[in-house]
Amino acid sequence: MTQILLLGQTLSFAGNPLTSDWAEVVQFDSTGAVLITDGTITAMGAMARQAAGNAEVIDYGDALIHAGFVDAHMHYPQTRIIASWGKQLIDWLNTYTFPEEARFGDSTYAEQVANDTLDLALAHGTTTLTSYCTIHPESVHAFFDAAAQRNMAVVAGKTCMDRNAIPALQDTAQSAYDQSKALIAEWHGKGRARYAITPRFSPTSSPEQLAALGALWHEHPDCLMQTHLSEQHAEIAWVKELFPNAQDYLDTYESFGLLGAKGIYGHAIHLEPREIDMLAEAGAAVVHCPTSNTFIGSGLFDLMGLARAGVATGLATDTGGGSSFSMLRTMAAAYEVGQLRGIALHPAQLMWLATAGSARALHMQDRIGNLTPGADADITVLDLASTPAIAQRTARAEDIWQALFPTLMMGDDRAIKDVWVSGQRMLP
Ligand code: GUN
Ligand code: ZN
Repeated sequence: MTQILLLGQTLSFAGNPLTSDWAEVVQFDSTGAVLITDGTITAMGAMARQAAGNAEVIDYGDALIHAGFVDAHMHYPQTRIIASWGKQLIDWLNTYTFPEEARFGDSTYAEQVANDTLDLALAHGTTTLTSYCTIHPESVHAFFDAAAQRNMAVVAGKTCMDRNAIPALQDTAQSAYDQSKALIAEWHGKGRARYAITPRFSPTSSPEQLAALGALWHEHPDCLMQTHLSEQHAEIAWVKELFPNAQDYLDTYESFGLLGAKGIYGHAIHLEPREIDMLAEAGAAVVHCPTSNTFIGSGLFDLMGLARAGVATGLATDTGGGSSFSMLRTMAAAYEVGQLRGIALHPAQLMWLATAGSARALHMQDRIGNLTPGADADITVLDLASTPAIAQRTARAEDIWQALFPTLMMGDDRAIKDVWVSGQRMLP
């Protein structure tokens, strides 16, 4: 038995601070402790100290120990094209994204980018990623293999497209079904891997392909399903042209069996009231991608409106439409988008979104996203004075929220003091 006791300030959650008073659900301990036994969190606080026995002790001082960040929507094949200038969604896909994704039939290239992406994520304190791959099964193997080497809990799937993309990136309804099914058999539930059936978005899938993937999800209800929804106005107008009989964008998924509790809908910015009702009724999750939504000019996600309507929400980088690998930068952008909608998100709400909220959106809240006995020891430790600019501000802090908020707004990978995945220390 291997036991490790982490000491420092600890932050965890007993509920959802978007729908309850944050002060009632937050669990903060300025002299906290986390006991890890064989990769699992087995005790917190005084109980952890008591049960520690001969555990190795690592004292992080006044650094903040919390659950590892959970990125609920990203595209690892876009790592090499992050921060590409000057386009909005459809032009950006055609100009930068599709030519890059066409390279991922080459396993060696896919493996390089998958490994680089996971190392970048860990360096930024992110322990779980939910990634789109490309149409190539090789790209899916590369990502799951790289995650397995690090024992990371990840979600991923083959991106399916059979129209409106360059020929090199098109499959068919049948091959999308067959290849996704084979990938599910190989990867879903293997170690910490979870499979998400992945139609990219309705403009790049024919009705036949959407129906085939809906049937596949019906056969594998334990899998997640991820796609994009109502990100930009031009995209929504295009969906209306392509599906003239659909009631709205969500209906282009719903009518093919692609709306359900394990559905994860990225962006979901410009929703109709019916779409919000149906997402809530289905128990589906949407994912807020704020750096992407400002970077490619998509719009301002209505976090509080959706939370009030009962729609689960995760937070994500959306790399490389998003402009950062950092969930700290992503929380800053979520705060800024909130301000533009007249809402000041509390640091506890931002941290919940980046950890427990995203884990819940992925239906993985029992294993990750919170420091709680029984959960996997996926843990990030934040230095709250990582740069001179942050340190001079934190020196004035009167409580943990004043101490934390400057790091959320101004922090980057320099703030990541340590990262643990399944009880293993991951930073070099
Ligand atoms: N919609 C369809 N594909 C994509 C993508 O790769 N990134 C973003 N941001 N939106 C999309
Ligand atoms: Zn995306």
